[in-house]
Amino acid sequence: MQRQTHSKASSTRKAMKPAMAAKANNKNMKAATKRAKSKPTSIKKSSSAKGPDAITLLKDDHKDVAALFREYDAGKDKMSAARKEKLTEKICEELKIHMQIEEEIFYPAIEEQMADVEEVVGEAKVEHKTFKRLIRDIDSGSPADEEFDSDVKVLSEHVEHHVKEEEEELFPKVRKSGMDLKTLGTAMAKRKKELKTGKVAKDRATLDAVINTCVYQRINLRQIEKLRSGLCRLVEWQKSRAKGA
Ligand SMILES: [Fe+2]
Ligand SMILES: [Fe+2]
Repeated sequence: MQRQTHSKASSTRKAMKPAMAAKANNKNMKAATKRAKSKPTSIKKSSSAKGPDAITLLKDDHKDVAALFREYDAGKDKMSAARKEKLTEKICEELKIHMQIEEEIFYPAIEEQMADVEEVVGEAKVEHKTFKRLIRDIDSGSPADEEFDSDVKVLSEHVEHHVKEEEEELFPKVRKSGMDLKTLGTAMAKRKKELKTGKVAKDRATLDAVINTCVYQRINLRQIEKLRSGLCRLVEWQKSRAKGA
């Protein structure tokens, strides 16, 4: 009889368990949702965030590139080929780094934190693809080419339009969202520095040199792209090997 009572109590406890577990689960879900809604996840908040916030940093980049384009446009008819090459190299390098920090850090952060930016970020990424195509033409071309000045002009017009949209439509929304732009800016400045001065920049310079040689040797674009992705994989493999060593 005692055994029966014990068994009954045990089965009642067992029957209660799923209900209690569901309640606890529900509670955990609510807490997780509250946490997710409340603030940043992938960019760690830093109390010692220094330097410009994310939007100021991006606007400063926009200003710098616009000044370089103006310099090119104003002097293109009397500038030496060497100066043109140097100036366009700088423009392309600045743009590549700027797009990379937007695509790696800024765009994903705002997409994660804001509900209504998916479409505008999608369009921005497509526009970046157009810049990259033009940059590739300029990088592999020469100031002696007939279309060189036109390529630079078209790139500057596309960039001007893109910057206008970012600064007039996207950035004000991001500012209003109350995101932690200071911490985001610190992460972006760090990555920018890495890209400008670090090993990554050296690796890319090596790849660019190889690609330029291929262009000079008239190896077609498809083969160059294949070679580029192969070399990128090789660089990544070497990096992971060095980390593991
Ligand atoms: Fe952009
Ligand atoms: Fe931008």
